[in-house]
Amino acid sequence: MKPIKTLGVLTSGGDCAGLNAVIRAVTVRAIRGYGLRVLGIHDGTLGLLDRPLSYRELNLESLDQRLLREGGTMLGTTSKGDPFYFPMPDGSFRDRSAEFAEGVRELGLDALVVIGGDGSMRILARLCEAAGIGMVGVPKTIDNDVHGTEYAVGFATAVNVVVEALDRLQPTAASHHRVMVLETMGRDAGHIALNGGIAGGADIILIPELPYTLDGVAQRIREVLARGRSHALVVVAEGVRTELGQAVVSAGRYGGIGQYLVGEIADRTGIETRATILGHVQRGGTPSARDRIIATSFGVRAAELAAEGRFGEMVAWQDRGVIEVPLSQVTVGARPVALDDPLIRTARGMGVYVGSC
Ligand code: F6P
Repeated sequence: MKPIKTLGVLTSGGDCAGLNAVIRAVTVRAIRGYGLRVLGIHDGTLGLLDRPLSYRELNLESLDQRLLREGGTMLGTTSKGDPFYFPMPDGSFRDRSAEFAEGVRELGLDALVVIGGDGSMRILARLCEAAGIGMVGVPKTIDNDVHGTEYAVGFATAVNVVVEALDRLQPTAASHHRVMVLETMGRDAGHIALNGGIAGGADIILIPELPYTLDGVAQRIREVLARGRSHALVVVAEGVRTELGQAVVSAGRYGGIGQYLVGEIADRTGIETRATILGHVQRGGTPSARDRIIATSFGVRAAELAAEGRFGEMVAWQDRGVIEVPLSQVTVGARPVALDDPLIRTARGMGVYVGSC
């Protein structure tokens, strides 16, 4: 295999805390360890579709110490614009994959580190193959629903945000003798709600993977009150449906299941109930220590795999360290909370209502 000289790196899909830490680690390892040239592509795939191409040279001098601590992504990202099916201003769709390949050739990229969720990785794997370059994946998403890894970059920070929100909601709930419903992100999977709910002492945690009944929810609240506590905390993932199975969406986006529960809980229990939607607060902000460690470990290993020509792999976290898994095994859709997830047992062991089965 011909040794690689130029490595591209891009972030794709929704941002989250820890992306800059990955970019920093990829760059440091690629330059210090292998003397590679590293180019950061702007705005995901868009940087390679733009003319002139939109990118920046990443070198050790340009890596500010602040990067490790900063949320967002210094390179920008996009969750729109699949180059195979690119939305055009006139409403039509065009295959722009050849322009992507042209951009790769123009920059002289030999390999690409893609920091993304499973959807981005699926698209980028096809694009890289068509462009004739190797790809290494780094999983990121606050939803933590990428297959093959225990943790994706951004998840740990998002869970901390949920816990902090519950720490703030509990005293106000107690003061007013209310039920507080906290709606978290988590489109297809309830990892954020389950982890945040346990760590934040929720009485009820609803996730898309487990069916629930409003009677079950109301029953748990009555039990809490019967034991002498005057308030309760409910955590619900945005992807949870109504009891009748309807998704709560507006303009194609999730949001509102918390407010639905407010009405149902108040009607059934007679307790004043309020909802808070956490939204994008979970994505921004300073990465937690855990996310910085995972991001840095992923970045180092991704650069090594690229430099060694070990393409078609994604770095993953298993048993306190980094391993590699074939991209083909991870680009198979979202990873839900498994029905035998130990945290479901933990929650139930604490008397938390997490649904009916
Ligand atoms: O996939 C990550 C995620 O944060 C989901 O939890 C959420 O539903 C979605 O992205 C929001 O996307 P957008 O930033 O496009 O509103």
